Amino acid sequence: MSDTAKLQVPGKDVEYPILSGSVGPDVIDIRKLYGQTGKFTYDPGFTSTASCESGLTYIDGDEGILLHRGYPIGQLAEHSSFMEVSYLLLNGELPNQEELTAFENTITRHTMLHEQLATFYRGFRRDAHPMAVMCGVAGALSAFYHDSTDITDPKQRMIASHRLIAKMPTIAAMAYKYSVGQPFLYPDNKLSYTGNFLRMTFGVPAEEYEVNPVIEKAMDRIFILHADHEQNASTSTVRLAGSSGANPFACIAAGIACLWGPAHGGANEAALNMLREIGRPERIPEYIARAKDKNDPFRLMGFGHRVYKNYDPRATVMQKTVREVFDALKVNDPVFEVALQLEEMALNDPYFIEKKLFPNVDFYSGVILSAIGFPTTMFTALFALARTVGWVAQWNEMISDPEQKIGRPRQLYTGPVQRDYVPVGQR
Ligand code: CMC
Repeated sequence: MSDTAKLQVPGKDVEYPILSGSVGPDVIDIRKLYGQTGKFTYDPGFTSTASCESGLTYIDGDEGILLHRGYPIGQLAEHSSFMEVSYLLLNGELPNQEELTAFENTITRHTMLHEQLATFYRGFRRDAHPMAVMCGVAGALSAFYHDSTDITDPKQRMIASHRLIAKMPTIAAMAYKYSVGQPFLYPDNKLSYTGNFLRMTFGVPAEEYEVNPVIEKAMDRIFILHADHEQNASTSTVRLAGSSGANPFACIAAGIACLWGPAHGGANEAALNMLREIGRPERIPEYIARAKDKNDPFRLMGFGHRVYKNYDPRATVMQKTVREVFDALKVNDPVFEVALQLEEMALNDPYFIEKKLFPNVDFYSGVILSAIGFPTTMFTALFALARTVGWVAQWNEMISDPEQKIGRPRQLYTGPVQRDYVPVGQR
């Protein structure tokens, strides 16, 4: 195979190196294109553009493969823990027992929020969306933790990263507590990362909270499934914000804002709302017809993916987890039956087959989260909580990359050419 790509532009032939990663498609290194030809590439939505080099996560969308630092997501979800996966993403290798214990200790000891932040919550309306609160409070961390913002110092970067991973469950749980008018609960260091989050969310100060081990395991697995996903929109947002040297906490707030959209993390909330609206299997064909209708903006939420043109491997684990949680809690929510039948009908429909639209991670996650007791508005906040580790790992990787530059895409300008200002009275 040739190791250069030749490009003919009017009046010029240019050649660019082809770079190979450890696995996956090669990339054409076009960094000199503008300098040599005076032309940019045009790629809205970055469908053919690799924005960086990364060693964290690999996705083969055609085969439905997702690897973190080489480990398949199915194996991590089955055998690992969210803390272990967080260590792996941040440090590159799975920890030994001593390293894992030390990491868990560090995270546990960063879970408390500055007390002043509790008053910050009271500035929000009680019916504020938890993602609005998460965005605001995560951004506000930048006003509280000044000793971990020298991004040129790897040690300070790691402290900021640990703080973010540790405090996000506290922030999310407090957003929930605020919305239901219950008192905030401080973290409890005896509990696991996930057990602690469940207690801060569902516990009350008046009573002991018993963590249900099946729910704890399922929740931890859901966190693992959301931990990182290569250069998706919110991760690219964190990288872009961070590329200017911005405060790490503010960069994560930018990621949360991006994640909120229904085409991205907001799809879990939208998917469950859709399943509830469908309500009964008999109504599924009507919704499938709407999803196929080009004149109707409706899409099957939790279906389709920019990268996966096969079953999202995270959806496979999610579907299995629904059954475990339902059995443990003795829940029988008809919405699961609607989801299963909708999936089957869509997967046998020529429209979805031809466009390679499969269930993604968000299709079943809402069904489980709802059974655990979370309101739909919390779903995307949970995604943000788990994705924080991916964001900080990618942010660290970017800052320590010697090739890192401020992100600055160019454009194809189609607006008016230069013209003279006309005073208002003469227009
Ligand atoms: N229902 C109906 N049609 C769809 C759907 C869907 N869910 N998804 C894609 N299509 C059609 C789309 O209309 C288009 O048709 P055509 O080629 O005739 O114009 C074709 O499939 C390709 O879609 P696209 O919008 O060009 O693809 P994309 O890569 O830009 O978008 C997506 C990917 C995830 C935004 C899109 O599939 C979608 O909107 N899905 C629903 C929202 C959702 O579940 N998002 C969660 C993504 S996974 C979690 C995460 O990482 O955030």
